[in-house]
Amino acid sequence: MDLTIVIVFIFAFLVSVLFLRRPKNLPPGYSGIPYIGSVQMMLKLRGKRPHIALHEESERHGNIFRWYLGNQMIVVLSGYDIIHEALVKKADTFSDRILFNRNPLFPRTEGEHGILTGQYDQIWRELRRFTLQALRDFGVGKASIEEKIAVEIETATEYLEGRNGKPTSMNDLMQQVVANVIFGIIFCKRYEYDDPEFDKTRKMTNNVVTGSGPVSPSLFMPKILARLLNPKDSEITASRRQSILKMRDYVFEQIEEHETTFDKDNIRDFIDIYIQTKTEGDESIRKFVTKGNMFRVIFDLFLAGSETTSTTLDWAFLFMTELPEVQKKCQDEIDKVLGDKVIEYSDRTKLTYVNAVIMEIQRCANIVPLNVAHSTTADTSVGGYNIPAKTLIIPSLYSVHMDTKYFSNPEKFDPDRFLDGQGNLLKNEALLPFSTGPRTCLGEPLARMELFLVFVYLIKRFNFAREDPNKPHTLESKQSQVTNAPLPYKLRATKRN
Ligand code: HEM
Repeated sequence: MDLTIVIVFIFAFLVSVLFLRRPKNLPPGYSGIPYIGSVQMMLKLRGKRPHIALHEESERHGNIFRWYLGNQMIVVLSGYDIIHEALVKKADTFSDRILFNRNPLFPRTEGEHGILTGQYDQIWRELRRFTLQALRDFGVGKASIEEKIAVEIETATEYLEGRNGKPTSMNDLMQQVVANVIFGIIFCKRYEYDDPEFDKTRKMTNNVVTGSGPVSPSLFMPKILARLLNPKDSEITASRRQSILKMRDYVFEQIEEHETTFDKDNIRDFIDIYIQTKTEGDESIRKFVTKGNMFRVIFDLFLAGSETTSTTLDWAFLFMTELPEVQKKCQDEIDKVLGDKVIEYSDRTKLTYVNAVIMEIQRCANIVPLNVAHSTTADTSVGGYNIPAKTLIIPSLYSVHMDTKYFSNPEKFDPDRFLDGQGNLLKNEALLPFSTGPRTCLGEPLARMELFLVFVYLIKRFNFAREDPNKPHTLESKQSQVTNAPLPYKLRATKRN
């Protein structure tokens, strides 16, 4: 073919993609080169924590801006008002998850649908309803789960006592506490912390979480380009896929084992609820509660429920070492209100300052700073701009927690912002660590229980201090993946009298 024809063809193609097919009144931001995307934006993201880079952009463009990865349009929403408009008021068009359509880690296999990664359809709705009900039946928010959490807290206490004030990493300890709670709920199992099997199963999920950015460029570009950008991409994906397959074998083994010992008068865990529903449940729900779907739901509970909660606790103890006066005020309130009484979740309403501190920890820790990406199911609008169907939406929860309309002086760690003059707790609708709308975190009640009980028990029993009193630890987070974790640190936990 004549070279001129090829050039004219490419030129016409670029013009058509860039100009002709673009809908009117799109949000401001960056245009993109076909198949590559907005190079300018990608350069800005390099080496930066994504939520910070996107926040800086929102300060330039406003509370809504667009950019492209490959041909995929991405719209970033910043601040409470516009995120509420999209995720709550226009929930029907803003609650899908096309992000996972292309992800080789989460194939939409027939009969294996998840909640976290699921499309906004009837399967997602039924699985979400079933799981929420199962968690409730099984005792989330009730004493039975409280007992499981208490066992883990006792083990953590023994561990910290054994450390005897020596420098200790809370990260690993909190991961073990939280993972065992979920193991208990799902498999009625608890592992000793030094059990190699425990380490192996925890590593399977960690391997899937770590290394996955909120939005990976490789998902939206032709493979050859993605490989150029990140030569190790396919290797990492293959190793993570292996972890998922191992996890699947593990879940299937557990289901088979449960089937042989199932007793309908003694429902032990989530898997027993699944077996019961499968045999006795309504036909309308039975068709969704399949073995494959249960694997994906269990996988989601581990994926979404372990690192988020343990990292929040990791931040909590870091804040306490850096803010001893806040720690002391929490201890004083716990001592005064509860004395030597065994701490129960129902005590939470009495500990207003502690509650305000936990709220401020969640605001400042920004555990899922860019949320889990949403997407649009139809042409729609938000903030006065048009948004086409199948646009990837990043509702920045970090920006909500930095929104000066709702949080004055947002850079400052200040639990008093959640208290009125009389020390009563104030509700602030813009505190959204668990997001908002129909996709809001399914594990919120469990996470709240774990955060309250672990924090209150341990802060009552120990003083947490810096490893070196003269060396403050930075409160900057590390280069974030999906979750925003502190830089590794060690503290000294000494027993209180
Ligand atoms: C402090 C701890 C936690 C935080 C900060 C957190 C935060 C979040 C966020 C921001 C989302 C995305 C919501 C959206 O797309 O708009 C989410 C979804 C989800 N979370 Fe959590 N989460 C936590 C703990 C848990 C726990 C303990 C579980 C379960 C055991 C859990 C299970 C889920 C599931 C299944 C979803 C997907 C919901 C859906 O797509 O319908 N999370 N979480």
